[in-house]
Amino acid sequence: MSAGPTGPDESAALHGVEAVVLVGGLGTRLRPLTLSAPKPMLPTAGVPFLTHLLSRIRAAGITHVVLGTSYRSEVFAEHFGDGSALGLELEYVVEQEPLDTAGAIRNVAGRLREQDIVVCNGDILSGVDLPGLVRTHRDHSADATLHLVKVDDPRRFGCVPTDSDGRVTAFLEKTDDPPVDQINAGCYVFRRPVIEAIPADRPVSVERETFPGLLDSGARLQGHVDAAYWLDLGTPAAFVRGSADLVRGVVPSEALPAGGSEALVLDGAHVAQGAAVTAGSTVGPGCAVEQGAEVTGSVLFAHAHVEAGAVVERSVIGAGARVGAGAVVRGGVIGDGAVVGGGCELLDGARVWPGVELPAGGVRFSHDC
Ligand code: GTP
Repeated sequence: MSAGPTGPDESAALHGVEAVVLVGGLGTRLRPLTLSAPKPMLPTAGVPFLTHLLSRIRAAGITHVVLGTSYRSEVFAEHFGDGSALGLELEYVVEQEPLDTAGAIRNVAGRLREQDIVVCNGDILSGVDLPGLVRTHRDHSADATLHLVKVDDPRRFGCVPTDSDGRVTAFLEKTDDPPVDQINAGCYVFRRPVIEAIPADRPVSVERETFPGLLDSGARLQGHVDAAYWLDLGTPAAFVRGSADLVRGVVPSEALPAGGSEALVLDGAHVAQGAAVTAGSTVGPGCAVEQGAEVTGSVLFAHAHVEAGAVVERSVIGAGARVGAGAVVRGGVIGDGAVVGGGCELLDGARVWPGVELPAGGVRFSHDC
């Protein structure tokens, strides 16, 4: 499947706007998947995750996008080139040493041309209305505007309270008793001078240093709260959920056909009759799912093989990896080329490192192998 150019909507809000996408993180929580590919390049509903984000940016009418890269920087340009296949003008800026989020934004300042810059973390799946976010920013003449989302359990995040006019009043660390349920959703609009004022050439965190510093200096930080779909794909559980939500059309993507389906079986994959592939699973190119196997809410990277009667649930099976006959993998991550021997059982949190072969024979694992 390929994502063709997506036409901009006719919203006038995004004239004079360009975008920066941060893609330089190590993706440690998604290891071992991120040993071979940076997190934004992991196949998600058949295309690199970043394709969904870039298509969304393009659909909002933005054409100039700068990628702030560091870890495995070469992989992005190899795949996306000059961006023209997506209707974009893409530029790449490489950090020799990771500069953290705000350092990475500062590092691309020399490539910026416009006054308003949308900045997105490269690992967020969201239905945010980008023109709406920019409108909020402009209507309030803000220095920076943050997309904020309400979550059921804000204790796992720092929270960001706002006043009755939507102005950000604080950045609070994680606490067991958060005063509000709004969190930073990892998508912002900055005025260009604010970016240029970030210290250059050293790591700077946007959440821990830049935003609190701006608040202290009296800058106007605006919150844009909405009820759009939002998911940080940073963990294996979130990654499989986000992929399944894309396949099922729970969150629309301009890079996919509208409507969604129970399963996405890509070119050259074979699903045997009598095998069940459901709940938004993706079966990558060249994969095989044999008779009686059940693949539920999972992602099979290219050339993965699920043998007869195996059960794969909420899991990622790496490229060329094999799940043996009758094995069970629930909430697991199987690295590229690894083998789960027939009859083994891998339970939540188990990760098998690339190339490792677990012998057949009914052993149960719930830890790293
Ligand atoms: P973990 O190691 O699992 O925490 O993942 P991560 O390295 O991606 O970190 P995190 O999820 O906090 O990063 C949020 C976003 O910022 C992601 O899109 C990262 O790619 C990006 N990011 C984090 N650190 C850097 C950096 O030093 N440079 C650049 N260019 N991007 C970064």
